[in-house]
Amino acid sequence: MKKVLTGIKPTGYAHLGNYFGAIKPAIELSKNEDYECFYFIADYHALTTLKSKDEMKEYFYNIACTWLACGLDPNKVVFYRQSDIKEVFEINWILCNVTPKGLMNRAHAYKACVENNEQNNLDRDANINMGLYNYPILMAADILSFGTDLVPVGLDQKQHIEIARDIANAFNKKYENVFIMPDCYIQENARTLIGLDGRKMSKSYNNTIQLFTDEKELKKKINRIVTDSKLPGEPKDLDCTINKLYKLFVDDDKAKEFEQKLKDGLSWGEAKNMLFEVANNYIKPMREKFFYYMQHKDIVDEILKQGAVKAQKCAREYLQKVRKAIGVEN
Ligand code: TRP
Repeated sequence: MKKVLTGIKPTGYAHLGNYFGAIKPAIELSKNEDYECFYFIADYHALTTLKSKDEMKEYFYNIACTWLACGLDPNKVVFYRQSDIKEVFEINWILCNVTPKGLMNRAHAYKACVENNEQNNLDRDANINMGLYNYPILMAADILSFGTDLVPVGLDQKQHIEIARDIANAFNKKYENVFIMPDCYIQENARTLIGLDGRKMSKSYNNTIQLFTDEKELKKKINRIVTDSKLPGEPKDLDCTINKLYKLFVDDDKAKEFEQKLKDGLSWGEAKNMLFEVANNYIKPMREKFFYYMQHKDIVDEILKQGAVKAQKCAREYLQKVRKAIGVEN
């Protein structure tokens, strides 16, 4: 059985891009009997971004309840909170000692911050903490502590998986073959979503549609989608954001019908109403579950506690092998 592992950082409210790009494909994957899946909330990775204790609590439960509402089955998936697995952090430290500093200098996220500082005539390391700098090592620890084979992630995370492999190699070479080489798994059916302004849907562009906002807010957001100035009756470009979003919520036949209407000159106002209808129908049952879990956080805590027990069992085995390999345990 192949081990599949992925994490989501609780740094904001889950949006449609997270759902179609990561959560939905990960849940579909977990239904495959050939895979043993470990899905977790990367709360300690979020520390580099979060501004307060309240944000941590808020986003943590938002993401945890989102996974459950979207259909993650805790009996099939080992579902846990990163910070509950202390073994990962011990492995993290050990991995720090086989990781060349230069490798971290080349990590995209860190490099982007440095470049940004330089452009603004600041010290190159201004506002950069060691959490950000060491981020890829902790991510390697997340992955390697479980003997992960496959890591389903978006393209933006590909370099992190390559770094995890480099670190695993460095350890295996210096000591012995303890770590399994993880592979990046970029799923065919995972999609990059287009946001309200036509760019990639992302928190950093402030163009997202939250997955579980209420109906009114969903409608408002959909009405904000940028369109061209074609009038009712004029054929619309099928490459538009509304069409791209509409497709996600319906089967092929319905998608074709909608495209025909756009070609026949459906007004943007009507198109937005139709998009709202299908999106809302799709999201509604999940939204109800989401609010149920949000109101019963004790259930969520319990699910994660049980997940942590299973995850720890696995990580402990790895930690022991690592400790033996470096000579601190017999
Ligand atoms: N860095 C990932 C992201 O920003 C989150 C993450 C943390 C992760 N640890 C991981 C993803 C381990 C896959 C495997 O999306």
